[in-house]
Amino acid sequence: MAKLQQQPNYRFAAITRNSVLHFLLLFLSCSSILHRASAFPLSTESRWIVDDSTGRRMKLACVNLASHLEPMVAEGLNRLPINEIAQKITSMGFNCVRFTWPLYLVTNATLGSTTVRESFRRLQLDDPIAGMETHNPSIIDLSLLQAFKEVVGRLGENNVMVVLDNHVTKPGWCCRDYDGNGFFGDEYFTPDLWVDGLTRMAAMFRGYTNVVAMSLRNELRGPKQNSNDWYRYMTRGAEAVHAANPDILVILSGLNYDGDLSFLNNRPVNLTFSKKLVFEVHWYGFTDGDGWADGNTNQVCGIVINHLKRSATFLLDQQYPLFVSEFGIDQTGTNLNDERFINCFLGYAAELDVDWAIWTIVGSYYLGEGVVGMSEPYGLLNWDWVEIRNTWFLEKLSALQRPFQGPGLAEAEIHKLIFHPSTGLCVLRGLTPLDPLKLGACWKSDPWSYTGQTLSVQGTTTPSCLRADQLWRPVQLLNGDCSTWEMITDSQMHLSTKLKDGTSGCLDVDSDNNVVANPCKCVRVEERCDPGSQWFKLVDSTRKPNDRGVPSGSRQQRSRRRGFSSGRSLLWEFLGLALA
Ligand SMILES: *[C@@H]1O[C@H](CO)[C@@H](O)[C@H](O)[C@H]1NC(C)=O
Ligand SMILES: *[C@@H]1O[C@H](CO)[C@@H](O)[C@H](O)[C@H]1NC(C)=O
Repeated sequence: MAKLQQQPNYRFAAITRNSVLHFLLLFLSCSSILHRASAFPLSTESRWIVDDSTGRRMKLACVNLASHLEPMVAEGLNRLPINEIAQKITSMGFNCVRFTWPLYLVTNATLGSTTVRESFRRLQLDDPIAGMETHNPSIIDLSLLQAFKEVVGRLGENNVMVVLDNHVTKPGWCCRDYDGNGFFGDEYFTPDLWVDGLTRMAAMFRGYTNVVAMSLRNELRGPKQNSNDWYRYMTRGAEAVHAANPDILVILSGLNYDGDLSFLNNRPVNLTFSKKLVFEVHWYGFTDGDGWADGNTNQVCGIVINHLKRSATFLLDQQYPLFVSEFGIDQTGTNLNDERFINCFLGYAAELDVDWAIWTIVGSYYLGEGVVGMSEPYGLLNWDWVEIRNTWFLEKLSALQRPFQGPGLAEAEIHKLIFHPSTGLCVLRGLTPLDPLKLGACWKSDPWSYTGQTLSVQGTTTPSCLRADQLWRPVQLLNGDCSTWEMITDSQMHLSTKLKDGTSGCLDVDSDNNVVANPCKCVRVEERCDPGSQWFKLVDSTRKPNDRGVPSGSRQQRSRRRGFSSGRSLLWEFLGLALA
């Protein structure tokens, strides 16, 4: 732990010298030091999470890593060395892990001091033992508690922030209404034991500078849930965590599987400390059953977002940060419900520019729902943890790994990006005015503006506004004579205009990612089709156009020093390396 705090001094020592040699040393030390976690408590500034030392926004772009199942060991250690897991996480563009733990890990000394090997043995899991002997021999004979700390420390060395998430009390698969872990007073969920466990966990990670937050309890649920007890115990838990470790953010989840924080609208949480409180919400496609596949996707997206506004995202307007700590899709790409859901999700998450954690990095579990080596279709990595299940999906997600706005990011006037969720790209101008508009990396976007009628590039004398004349033809940029673009359908992502012949055309993309006008899809409510390619979200940004930006402050310094210029190619280079 202390080792993580020494780094800034190193850097300072190097800066005080000035010979060429020392510049070289500085460069080398920076590039290696900055790979490790930098020291920064985080705090909140209105609805944003910021780095305390700079006041600059720190967007959490996390991946969930489970350690709350029966073995109580971080998943995947039988497949890859922990350093490689950490490196995969950063090479995929994430800056943080939401790391789940069961309460008993810290409240039951017998369990906590069991070794990893014994824990697997007790469950008759021989394969993970063999795998860990190969890949993580230095962890297999540690106690479960030491192993947990080791994983957190190694993530830190790889510059990965950690959000500790108390997922359950009794280790095992989560979550069901009647599993005894759902709400205060349930069989395994005793408030006193919970506060004790939170306190121990918070104290244990004092001084670990990469442990930036604790979420106090995952997915409250079940017949006992009620908001009075929520205030009573969440306040107690939050105060206990803050007393034990005042550096970390305290994250509170809602009722009904973390889908409902609406009760906060009338009654705020009353804590003795400030600038550390964050709320979390979960949002999956299956939250709404098969609604996405069975309904009109424009309409479903509108309904679900309106519901989410009332149940959770109103908190952003009340100036609290909101962490979407679980969402995700079936990575096989075969789940129609999820495929439609995710475009709506990405559009809304980009618009709000929220912090988030995707479920999950885990390709397979040691033991999931009683199945040895159970595959996780929502896992970003394959069953063997070597390959990425769906690189196309990661590309879609990558635009959201960087902040669009927030404290310290006001490098440009506020403007719009025309974000296309189904590719994760943005509408870009061609190199010359005659080149067609194309989709490309969002960081390359010009600053756009939308008046409610016209869509145009700001502050330029060259042809600048969107004009569409005919179906199936490229949309052009003209000086004046702009088309009027109207947001149609409940999705609030569907831009329609009247064409020369009087018919309507919607902004769309062709198979070469050229921006075209096509017949509007799924406009009539009885249509059950997928309008995804026609969804464009106008996202507010204050980032300097053509500045690629990166997920976290320290990563940004690192990249700049090394002179990297192209975000996407860098990401894909790393992915290539990770796959090799
Ligand atoms: C700790 O866990 C062990 C193993 O599951 C169990 O037998 C024991 O009763 C637990 N102790 C306490 C104090 O809960
Ligand atoms: C908040 O808590 C403090 C101390 O416990 C108390 O004095 C105050 O009245 C509370 N405020 C509200 C609005 O409940």
